[in-house]
Amino acid sequence: MEKELEKLEAEAKEFLSNLEETSQIEDFRVRFLGRKGQFSTIMRSLGSVPAEDKPRLGQLANTIKAEIEQLFEEKTKDLQSQSAHLGKKNLPDLTLPGRRPAQGTLHPVTQVMQETCSIFESLGFSVAEGPDVEVDYYNFEALNIPAHHPARDMHDTFYVSDSVLLRTHTSPMQARVMEAQDPPLRVIAPGKVYRCDSDITHTPMFHQVEGVLVDKNISFADLKGILTVFTQKMFEKDLPLRFRPSFFPFTEPSAEVDIACVMCNGVGCRVCKKTGWLEILGSGMIDPEVFKMVGYDPKVYSGFAFGLGIERIAMLKYGIDDIRLFYENDQRFLSQF
Ligand code: FA5
Repeated sequence: MEKELEKLEAEAKEFLSNLEETSQIEDFRVRFLGRKGQFSTIMRSLGSVPAEDKPRLGQLANTIKAEIEQLFEEKTKDLQSQSAHLGKKNLPDLTLPGRRPAQGTLHPVTQVMQETCSIFESLGFSVAEGPDVEVDYYNFEALNIPAHHPARDMHDTFYVSDSVLLRTHTSPMQARVMEAQDPPLRVIAPGKVYRCDSDITHTPMFHQVEGVLVDKNISFADLKGILTVFTQKMFEKDLPLRFRPSFFPFTEPSAEVDIACVMCNGVGCRVCKKTGWLEILGSGMIDPEVFKMVGYDPKVYSGFAFGLGIERIAMLKYGIDDIRLFYENDQRFLSQF
């Protein structure tokens, strides 16, 4: 019994000296001092020792227990004051300067869209907006593209129903604006358009800005002049511009406009498909058939229209070689603008 008491005393002291965290205090109490702890067990076994040894062993047990209880109390106070001190150390330093919240910027496509609109506004154009979900009539019929016309195939249309669709270009706004206003007019119509199309220069949703100008004696030279001024202002330099004969059912004659590829300086790369040029817009003189459908007299009035691809302009302006980057929401890409 005496030996057991000495062993227990040594064990308890060793445990106490290794005790480093407040969470261990309760472990110690339960193991040594609790009702089912080791001291209580020894005290209970005092009943079975010979009567003559009982007083001596009882006193020894009480002395050791009292000593351990005192050491335990001191250790507990020590640890508690240490942790209170640490707690204070972990408090935030209120005198430190605050962290600035990260500042967002406009999406590059929004920036180019806004710049495009303001260039045309400075040239006397006003801005009109129309619906993304369009009826077949304005997207095709009113633009001289009747049902079964082969030009419909080129549009890769998303249909909502037989007669309702997501507009494939901003040109429906030509018809809507001309129906609503008499000439002379000078209007741009910015907005989203949709086509079932995706590769490094095509996305299923992209932005166009439509331009329409109608007055007396308007010629192709006026169209060339306006578009040349636009590209000079947008790219802040005299970039080579190419008017390439093309076909749109709603303009005659028609031209697509290309800009020298900024990625390869016109040498030829994967972005310009080795041509050295990147197409940015379609344009032409408004077809007399379209004028007739909106009630304008083609013998009195003439005009031009164009449809600019905003993402293409943003690619050229910022030297981006894959149009899909605009829509991947990659912060590392977007935060550069
Ligand atoms: C048109 O959409 C005609 N409505 C343009 C027009 C307007 C012609 C007025 C005559 C008069 P086109 O399909 O070529 O044309 O598209 C015009 C421009 O949109 C292209 O030059 C290109 O810059 C851009 N574009 C076309 N498809 C995509 C696409 N999937 N992703 C990104 N940009 C595109």
